[in-house]
Amino acid sequence: MNIGIIGCGIIGSRMGRNWKKAGHRVVGWNRTPAHAENSGFPLMAAPALVAHTAEVIMITVADPAALVSVIEGPAGLASVSLRGKVVLNASTVGPGDNQRAAKAVREAGGEFLEAPFTGSKDGAAAAKLVFYIGGDEPLFRRMEPLLMQIGKQCFFFGPVGTAADAKLVMNMMLANLMEAMAEGFALVKKAGLNVATFVEAYKMNAGYSVLADMKIGKMLEGDYATHFSLKHMDKDVRLALERAAELKVACPLTERLKEVFTEGMEAGWGEEDFAVVYRLIQKKS
Ligand SMILES: NC(=O)c1ccc[n+]([C@@H]2O[C@H](COP(=O)([O-])OP(=O)(O)OC[C@H]3O[C@@H](n4cnc5c(N)ncnc54)[C@H](OP(=O)(O)O)[C@@H]3O)[C@@H](O)[C@H]2O)c1
Repeated sequence: MNIGIIGCGIIGSRMGRNWKKAGHRVVGWNRTPAHAENSGFPLMAAPALVAHTAEVIMITVADPAALVSVIEGPAGLASVSLRGKVVLNASTVGPGDNQRAAKAVREAGGEFLEAPFTGSKDGAAAAKLVFYIGGDEPLFRRMEPLLMQIGKQCFFFGPVGTAADAKLVMNMMLANLMEAMAEGFALVKKAGLNVATFVEAYKMNAGYSVLADMKIGKMLEGDYATHFSLKHMDKDVRLALERAAELKVACPLTERLKEVFTEGMEAGWGEEDFAVVYRLIQKKS
């Protein structure tokens, strides 16, 4: 199959590489060609040119503005006929953003699924992403085998927008958990506890998690090499709070968390891994 990747950053480049490994012909596009992670597949000059070549197009760009630009911009996907083509959006955006994208793609003759995911950089590299799907279920069933070549599980939520909601809630909870660990470990250190013993005891505690497994070792070493950037988590927390406001759900903890993330962004740490909130708490302590 001919597959196109729009946005060859941390995730898009790895998805493309895995599809190439699975035997597909892959082409990509990145706004800044020099930023494209060593993707191992050719880059085209515009999203519209990817649409000419590819039957399935996966979008993995930063945020809602980027999504509008790659679909509705001058040389965007919807500037050409998308008849016979499927556009999947894996970027984390709000439900309304995916509904707008779906409309633009359908008006250009194509089909659309939202496909936000979890699994981070290592999950993307190992083809072990977990997808949340929103859209037409028969279309999802057609695309599922393809998604399972770069992932390990798909959850179908319902119409376009439902998977975006699920993803925002997941990331809101994850962000709060990260902050709780950052504050907890700052306290562990200041209290002079044996950190290794605490970590072993934490592993036996109900609050231990996959996130703890992924982040604690690196956090304690001050290794904030980016798997999932603070700027993207900051965006996701903002989108989750916007959705909570729309639905009139009180999220006082997350509102306070957003202020902490904003401090991290203002410190210039947006490109680092979101575990960098630990550095922030230590600095303030
Ligand atoms: N990394 C993770 O663990 C993870 C996990 C779940 C979900 N996500 C989501 O997946 C998406 C991609 O994440 P990532 O980690 O791969 O991010 P990334 O490495 O920062 O890549 C972002 C991509 O978006 C492009 N972009 C940014 N603004 C744009 C614009 N206005 N127009 C066109 N392209 C634009 C960037 O192009 P340039 O190179 O030109 O800047 C780059 O290709 C994000 O929505 C993120 O929230 C990531």
